[in-house]
Amino acid sequence: MHNDAIFQEIRKISGELHERVKAHRRYFHSHPELSMEEVDTSRKIADILEGLGYENVRIGTAGRPTGVVADLNSEKPGRCIALRADMDALPIKEDTGLSFASENEGVMHACGHDAHIAILLGVAELIMRTRDSFPWKVRLIFQPSEESGTFPGAKAMVGEDVLNGVDAITGLHVWMDVPSGKIGYRKGPLMASADKWEVRLQGKGGHGALPHMAIDPTLAAGHLITMMQSIVSRETDPLESIVVSVGKMEAGSAFNIIPDSVYLLGTTRTFNPELRKELPGRMKRIVESVSNAMRCEAEFDYHNNLPPTVNDADFTEQASAAAKKMFGDNKVIEIEPTMAAEDFSFYLEQIPGSFFFLGIGDESKGITAPHHHPKFQVDEDVLSDGVALIAGVAANYLAGEKA
Ligand code: NI
Repeated sequence: MHNDAIFQEIRKISGELHERVKAHRRYFHSHPELSMEEVDTSRKIADILEGLGYENVRIGTAGRPTGVVADLNSEKPGRCIALRADMDALPIKEDTGLSFASENEGVMHACGHDAHIAILLGVAELIMRTRDSFPWKVRLIFQPSEESGTFPGAKAMVGEDVLNGVDAITGLHVWMDVPSGKIGYRKGPLMASADKWEVRLQGKGGHGALPHMAIDPTLAAGHLITMMQSIVSRETDPLESIVVSVGKMEAGSAFNIIPDSVYLLGTTRTFNPELRKELPGRMKRIVESVSNAMRCEAEFDYHNNLPPTVNDADFTEQASAAAKKMFGDNKVIEIEPTMAAEDFSFYLEQIPGSFFFLGIGDESKGITAPHHHPKFQVDEDVLSDGVALIAGVAANYLAGEKA
């Protein structure tokens, strides 16, 4: 089938699937599960895929019955594209008042991963309905634990060879900052790295009136926090982006006591994988120098949590051109990167691909609450666009081989 013909077919079928995708989204919205607890979610997804005719549907990641992988035509020659949706919810008490609000008290799909599941299930059905007329070769990845930060499901799945036999990958995130009805793409870095660091400064506690008898770790912490910003302002090319933030400080017990120690916990962000590699060393140097100058002992730990999400330039060029053909130039827009993070980055470290933002923000519908907010909502009118986008990008990649 010619490209334009399959695009037309995809638009038509995605429209027909809209109500079912919406129903699926509402089901998963009512039944949210936390990271690495997506057991019922996984079972339900596997049931739907098996019902559609997918064979060898596998459940399980990192020794847990969460995460679902299914293939179509894996035995056929030619390249294979992976299509990925994340599926975990957040520890948030929902406050939307929706008729299909969370039935799992204190847990909420407040990032839109319910929509991601439903969209990919829609793609799975579209693929089955066109399998006789188009040479699909796909791997569907329903990934657990995107939200946990410290246990990225993508990293676990990559470690379990989920990308074996796969040549490229695509996926999307519904995105409040992109207007509803628009599809956002970007070549190169789209989202930042998200790492975690910890510092413990050990001084010597004492009476608040007698600082000379003590070693004050709070003053050392003050200098340290200030000095750390010099990594951003004095050590980094101003055209590059780095964020160093302190998220937690712990010290002391009373107004007249100099505490024994200070604990700092924070995050660093950047789009640049090379700069990211340098951050632990730069921070360590400052921690050691400041603590030394202030007579404190320092412990420093740096945790590499998530790499930056860097879209492959060629893949994105071709995928965005295909999206423009399907949706028109006005609907498909180049977007600015965001300092938020996403564990899709682990796939893109291994193989080329692109991650898209599907706009859902619409003031006229009252859909404005940010991601991870108790009032977060998804504009369901765009769900079939999401199906068409993922299916179209995949078809374009698979057909491109012969071109
Ligand atoms: Ni998310």
